[in-house]
This record gives sequence, structure tokens and C-alpha cells, in this order.
Amino acid sequence: MGRVALVTGGTRGIGAAIARALKDAGYAVAANFGGNEEAANAFAEETGIPVYRWDVSDYDACAEGVARVEADLGPIEILINNAGITRDAFLHKMTPEMWRAVIAVDLDSVFNMCRLIIPGMRERGFGRIVNVSSVNAQKGQMGQTNYAAAKAGMIGFTKSLAQEVAAKGITVNAITPGYCETDMVRAVPEKVLNERILPQIPVGRLAQPEEIARAVLFLVDDDAGFITGATLAINGGQYMA
Ligand code: CAA
Repeated sequence: MGRVALVTGGTRGIGAAIARALKDAGYAVAANFGGNEEAANAFAEETGIPVYRWDVSDYDACAEGVARVEADLGPIEILINNAGITRDAFLHKMTPEMWRAVIAVDLDSVFNMCRLIIPGMRERGFGRIVNVSSVNAQKGQMGQTNYAAAKAGMIGFTKSLAQEVAAKGITVNAITPGYCETDMVRAVPEKVLNERILPQIPVGRLAQPEEIARAVLFLVDDDAGFITGATLAINGGQYMA
């Protein structure tokens, strides 16, 4: 059995593609999900990957969830912080609830999960963490002050934690996917997607989730120990930092 990997938000979209790719590569994978029980059960049945429901924005729920995964599979050696939501609106229409929900699920979750899993990684002298940020953290995006702030926060978090644990055999990296064929992007108004967003992408199409997953596989490999604190763009040329 390969190393134990946990993917948050791992039953749909980019997270599901990452979980599948890790499993295919021989890792022992657990997939967390937040609410969509039906999709999670279908995913578990199809892939054989065990799924675990908890709210990643809730520290105590994360502690319980991590304990369940570790009881079933063993210590988590690879953590993919992928869970995320959008609540898009121009700032003058954004409610405090829309702001708080996105910061909690997309950014507090990264603290919660890393805070719980880092001590074990430090003790064992090995770990791989990949934080799934977004192209919109780097370029900004109208309608996404909340999401861009959370996703940019992940990048600063990544660089800081990477420095803290570099000497312990643990790498911490961020990826910044562009617009990808997932439910999240399908929720964008069609006219905006076709007339505004697609023309900004030099490759001329949305990404497939599998194209994001292959970068994660690269970063979590045992041989990737010298890559840390990096931010890897996977955006079809939409933004070149
Ligand atoms: N890129 C370029 N222009 C955009 C845009 C975008 N992403 N989003 C909105 N606009 C433009 C619209 O085309 C429109 O311009 P015109 O009036 O000239 O046609 C203007 O902004 C206002 O938009 P709306 O008329 O739709 O205004 P609204 O108040 O009803 O809604 C909105 C605003 C909530 C931002 C809505 O337009 C929207 O949802 N846009 C998509 C925002 C977006 O890109 N979200 C990313 C979701 S995917 C994701 O987050 C994954 C990831 O990491 C990449």
C-alpha cells in the first residue's frame, strides 16, 4: 500500500480528479466532502475510494474527521487542501455572510487541516501538502473579492509554512488552476463564460480536471523534495505571473 493521502472536497470536480489520480498511482486515498452525499456515495462506489463527511471550516469537525481517516488508513502523509466554494457578487452587493462563508471554507480550512496534520508529519520527518488556490488569487476577478482574498491568503500561508517545515522533510506548495470544467465554473453565467472569460484564455478552452491532477501528482512525489513554497500556475496562459 502506498502513502496515505487525504483530499478535501475530494468527491467532485478538481478534488475528485486528484483523488482518482492518486489512487491510480498507488496511494491509499481518503476523500472528504462537505454536503453532497449523493455525489459522494456515487464517487465512492465507482472508485472504491472511502469518503468522509465533515465541514472543513469547523476545527473540531476537522479533528474528528482526521482521526477517523487515520484510524482507517494510518497517518496522513499527503494533504491536498482542495475544498472551496464561491459566493460571487460585486462588492457593493456582497453580504457579510457571503464574505464569511468563503473565507471560512476556502481559507480557515487550510489552517484547520494543516494545524491538525503538521505535528505528525514533523514527527515522522515526511509530508507533502498541496494547497489548491486559483488564477483569480493572482490576477483578481470582478465579483470575487471574497474568493480572491481567500485564495491569495492561501499563497502567503503556503510560503510561510513551507519555510517552517522545510528542514523536516515536508514540502508545502500551492497550485493556481484557471477555469476548469467543473460544477463551480458551470455556475458562471453562460454569456459571461463565453463572451468574457474564454477569450482571455490563450489555449482557447477550459481545463479538464485531470490536467490539474497531474500537477498534484508531480508535487507529492517522494522525489519532489526540493520543490517547496512554489506556486504553480495551470491556467492555459490566462495569467502569467
Ligand atoms: N470576466 C470578465 N468580465 C466579467 C466577468 C469575468 N469573469 N464576470 C462578469 N463580467 C462582466 C459581465 O460580462 C458584465 O459586463 P457587461 O455589462 O459589459 O456585459 C459585468 O461584468 C457585470 O456582470 P453581470 O451583468 O453578470 O452583473 P451581476 O451583478 O448580475 O453579476 C457577477 C456579477 C456575480 C460577477 C457575475 O457576472 C458572475 O458570476 N461572473 C463570473 C465571475 C467569475 O469569473 N467567477 C469565477 C467562478 S469559477 C472559480 O472561481 C474557479 C476558479 O478558481 C477560476
